[in-house]
Amino acid sequence: MSEKEVKNLEEVFEARIARDEKIEPKDWMPEKYRQTHIRQMSQHAHSEIVGMLPEGNWITRAPSLRRKAALLAKVQDEAGHGLYLYSACETLGISRDELYEQLHSGKAKYSSIFNYPTVTWADMGAVGWLVDGAAIINQVPLCNTSFGPYARAMVRVCKEESFHQRQGFEIMLTLCRGSEEQKAMAQDALNRWWWPSLMMLGPTDAESVHTEQSMKWKLKRKSNDELRQQFIDQTVPQADLLGITVPDPDLKWNEETGHYDFGEIDWDEFWQVVKGHGPCNKERMNARVNAWNNGEWVRDAAMAHAEKNANKKVAKAS
Ligand SMILES: [Fe+2]
Ligand SMILES: [Fe+2]
Repeated sequence: MSEKEVKNLEEVFEARIARDEKIEPKDWMPEKYRQTHIRQMSQHAHSEIVGMLPEGNWITRAPSLRRKAALLAKVQDEAGHGLYLYSACETLGISRDELYEQLHSGKAKYSSIFNYPTVTWADMGAVGWLVDGAAIINQVPLCNTSFGPYARAMVRVCKEESFHQRQGFEIMLTLCRGSEEQKAMAQDALNRWWWPSLMMLGPTDAESVHTEQSMKWKLKRKSNDELRQQFIDQTVPQADLLGITVPDPDLKWNEETGHYDFGEIDWDEFWQVVKGHGPCNKERMNARVNAWNNGEWVRDAAMAHAEKNANKKVAKAS
């Protein structure tokens, strides 16, 4: 293809995005668009799958049958989210095996929040309330992103995330209305999850390298700092309602801006965790790699079964 032809294709492509048309897997797309989507969707898929681990940790210890059923359902939803996203990613010409390989080798990233431990039952409340809450803020704009399979997957994902957020908040509410010890547990969980949740919205705009291109492709509609402010503005009144305190002495309502002012985020901590030095990075990766290795016999058996069936059909036909 000549340079001019490529340029024409690019123009047509950008115009389609500007008109809010969806780009489908078999449509022509610039290589950078394909690669960016593989990177972002796989990172998202890995986050869903690794995100099952901190909560899976509490399924056997949930305090009641009702809590156990809700937590099981939530963790299964996350598995489903991972599967939609891996499938959407595969439509761009990368295999599931390659995607897993990238995760297991450390080449691909996942959300750094899942490298923190869940040490008490109240963490199930804080994770649902704050982590799924921040995820919704990140994900709702993706329902309108330009790549069709990603946008469609996100519609269902977001509906399920809002159930996750509410079940987390309801755990917090129950603890906060309970005994002094229960309320203290809820406060302790908020203390530990607040700052990492703010970091989930990504580095500040000045440090975010992909923002401009992602805005153009509608992979992003608002900057990280805008999303973070939205999260804080919506979450602080919920903490007030619970009667627990956000662990930020600089947090206060600003009449003039109509937003909360907040304190400095410890970005050193963020980059340490991203680089693999968080409290649970090794544990999370070991769990995923072991799950892959332990599942080998299942994959082999499924392949052997499929082959046997295919041979039978050939034999019958001949
Ligand atoms: Fe999810
Ligand atoms: Fe979720």
